[in-house]
Amino acid sequence: MRLFIGTEEECDRRAALEVVKQIKSKPDSVLGLATGSTPIGMYRNMAQAYRDGEISYSRVRTFNLDEYVGLAKKHPCSYYYFMREYLFKDIDIPADNIDFLDGTASDLAQECARYEENIENCGGIDLQLLGMGHNGHIGFNEPDTPFESLTHIVELTESTIKANSRFFDSEEEVPRKALTMGIKTIMHAKKIIFFVKGAAKAEVVRQVLQGPITPKVPASVLQLHPNLCVFLDHDAASKLNL
Ligand code: GLP
Repeated sequence: MRLFIGTEEECDRRAALEVVKQIKSKPDSVLGLATGSTPIGMYRNMAQAYRDGEISYSRVRTFNLDEYVGLAKKHPCSYYYFMREYLFKDIDIPADNIDFLDGTASDLAQECARYEENIENCGGIDLQLLGMGHNGHIGFNEPDTPFESLTHIVELTESTIKANSRFFDSEEEVPRKALTMGIKTIMHAKKIIFFVKGAAKAEVVRQVLQGPITPKVPASVLQLHPNLCVFLDHDAASKLNL
């Protein structure tokens, strides 16, 4: 594991640099992308690298971690909409290269199987970006999700619904279900960037990186990944035993 601790801005820059390096060494890289407030600064830096002519995303393919059930792409709270706003509209990635879970699919189980198959057909994810929920969830893999899980439908926990309600007009509007890559899908990525910010997650960060590996803390599985880069701002790292 490589661990970088710095200011929020330093983390945004350094994490984006890892992505730029990846695309420079393999222009047709397959990226796994994440939503949430944490990666926004990193996405700004990734878009800047394109504007500066440093890299092109024209051959990159992307798969996002998750999507709410029932929200269409054009819904402002859908993760697709988020990605378009914070990254896709600012880079030269062709629309056909963006694969996304469709939370409005009539057969959700089939949609999950399609996603797994597409990831495999692309040769697997080269670099997966990953944030973390307050309860240690990755993607929408809530506590007690089996480490063997592939892309699947989840019932969101009350704590996640509450935490994510800040993006909606009210808590009632947060969908109760989502589709997410599974923990096994995530762990199959050749390299993972794990990015956490803020004092509110400091205790979970300690459990994730220095506690037992357990489905009770889904992100703790990352200790087993052979190519993990961790980026923490000073607050998120404040409870680590260094
Ligand atoms: C959601 C997403 C996760 C993300 C988490 C943290 O639950 N499904 O992929 O890591 O939010 O979000 P934030 O970075 O805003 O704390």
